[in-house]
Amino acid sequence: MAEFGLSVQDVDTELPSPARIYDYWLGGSHNFAADRVVGERAAAAMPTLRAAIMANRAFLHRMVAHLVAQCRITQFLDLGSGIPTVGNVHEIAQRIDPEARVVYVDIDQVAVAHGRQLLADNPRAVAILADLRRPETVLRHPQVRTTLDLDRPVAVLMNAVLHFIPDSEGPDAIVAAYAAALAPGSYLALSHAAPDLDHPTEQAGMIDNYQQSTGVQFIHRTPEQLAAWLVGLDIQPPGIVLVNQWRPDSEEAPAPILRTYGLLARKPVTSLGAGPATEA
Ligand SMILES: C[S@@+](CC[C@H](N)C(=O)[O-])C[C@H]1O[C@@H](n2cnc3c(N)ncnc32)[C@H](O)[C@@H]1O
Repeated sequence: MAEFGLSVQDVDTELPSPARIYDYWLGGSHNFAADRVVGERAAAAMPTLRAAIMANRAFLHRMVAHLVAQCRITQFLDLGSGIPTVGNVHEIAQRIDPEARVVYVDIDQVAVAHGRQLLADNPRAVAILADLRRPETVLRHPQVRTTLDLDRPVAVLMNAVLHFIPDSEGPDAIVAAYAAALAPGSYLALSHAAPDLDHPTEQAGMIDNYQQSTGVQFIHRTPEQLAAWLVGLDIQPPGIVLVNQWRPDSEEAPAPILRTYGLLARKPVTSLGAGPATEA
């Protein structure tokens, strides 16, 4: 755990962290009292919050399964991967293709420390401590280079993380930098919180509290704002939709949830020659 100064003992347990609050909402055990206080307050303010979090996680599961089974993607760069919980990306991907490789990237020490514990026996998956806002640093990281072959298609996952990046930090440029570095035929998948037009007051109150408690900004964005980031990429069917409407497992009408949108985009193969499979 000494690598990159990574030690859970150094963690400020009094300062609530987005990774550990999210772990609490998912029913995980890698969180502290301060995280639970913020998590409970937010859940009380927005009764649909937990269902929305579960729907976001289920979206990630369906997305990874789709990418491996339908798009033949076997390399994943999971940015803002969070604290490992049931149904992590490597578990889903390697169940379908045992050769699948995953790099988990998070800025939270607890998330990365637990990721490393979980992956100790997995030769094809690693967790690194890094800031996704530094695409060059992430993409040049030695463990990214030894785990993934960036000359071949990769799926970059940015699930429920870009709403922590304010416009002043250039999320559009960050997305563009990853997209530019990827091989043609690569994919970029993301989910992102949006304004809740049905419960604007509750949502604003919850977010104010969350931001003040964590010191982290949380920005809602519309599907149109997300689409504007995807210059040069092809948004795949069914488009930018609420996460529980993205290729749902069941044909039943999805229950209403907090507004979190999800999408899958593909970097086109421009030159002649064999590219990986496109959408089924
Ligand atoms: C809400 S969780 C999402 C976890 C997972 N992607 C999912 O959808 O289930 C967001 C994660 O992003 C991480 N994060 C926030 N800002 C980040 C940054 N700049 N670089 C890397 N990770 C970041 C947080 O630490 C947290 O673990």
